[in-house]
Amino acid sequence: GAVKTKMAVFLLCGAALLTACAGARGGKADSVVPEFVLTYAENQAEDYPTTQGAYKFAELVNQRTNGKIEIQVNAGGTLGDERSVIEQLMFGGVDFARVSLSPLAEFVPKLNVLQMPYLYTGPEHMWRVLEGKIGDDFMNSFGDSNLIPLSWYDAGARNFYNSVRPIETLEDIRGMNIRVQESELMVDTIKALGANPVPMAYGDVYSGLQTGKIDGAENNWPSYESTRHYEVAGYYTIDEHTRVPELQLVAQSTWDKLSPEYQNIIRECAQESAVYERKLWQEREKISEKKIREAGCVITELSAEEKARFQDAVSPMYELYCADYVDIIDQIVAAGK
Ligand code: GCU
Repeated sequence: GAVKTKMAVFLLCGAALLTACAGARGGKADSVVPEFVLTYAENQAEDYPTTQGAYKFAELVNQRTNGKIEIQVNAGGTLGDERSVIEQLMFGGVDFARVSLSPLAEFVPKLNVLQMPYLYTGPEHMWRVLEGKIGDDFMNSFGDSNLIPLSWYDAGARNFYNSVRPIETLEDIRGMNIRVQESELMVDTIKALGANPVPMAYGDVYSGLQTGKIDGAENNWPSYESTRHYEVAGYYTIDEHTRVPELQLVAQSTWDKLSPEYQNIIRECAQESAVYERKLWQEREKISEKKIREAGCVITELSAEEKARFQDAVSPMYELYCADYVDIIDQIVAAGK
């Protein structure tokens, strides 16, 4: 009796001390034994907005579950390229990830609707769609994919870049080998422009450009800068041919292990981390653009007339990929007016 009571008092004090220490360390309840230790895959560098969003998410979840859920962020693509990460999520080999919609749409085809070429007039238009009923409906249409979407992340607009020449007309891109994400829609889009699509993982693009396996690629300012692709492909063409939203996801099998209380906390923290990511995104876009201009890259912008030609060339994608979603496309377009 007495010994047991003493033991219990001793353990309680110990626990109180440990909790106090955790508090002093800025909210990360290190010393609490977590009930769940979960992995999070991110393919960008440590200082990239989406990675910072992931850390924010992990920190918030840890705080609000009093240390019971620990999320370990693996940045820099260490858990695999995006396609492989999506597959790992499907069977629970990875618990969380932030991925681009392009490769994700290979598994949930309807998502292509949200990343059609020249669909949005600008970021405000895209966010009105994603944050409104349309975005919610897409979130609810993952069916039996074994993937649960949590929140939308920003990835700006994508532009072409290459190591050969400035692209000023449709003729300039013709025949170029352009790396694309592992996405049928992107493969077809590049073909429609008269160039040769080369699907390739993000992490392989630098060496692809360096060795001349590809002439160019396409991405937003922060990616072009963060990956240092601008060092080996210095012609950047502002044409904003697409805005590809991104999603934070959780594996269905992980989700099913969590109590409704934990699920709510995770949803809420994912949303908050997304707000944070969007703020960082806007800042980083400007910083990256400045850095690239200062590095002496040749930045060109398509004239309105040429842009219309690009748009025309890729317009068959709408019939190919959105025939079943004409109403949604109309609603999205209407939201931009
Ligand atoms: C963006 C996106 C990545 C993606 C990459 C790509 O940088 O944020 O998630 O992998 O594009 O072109 O593959």
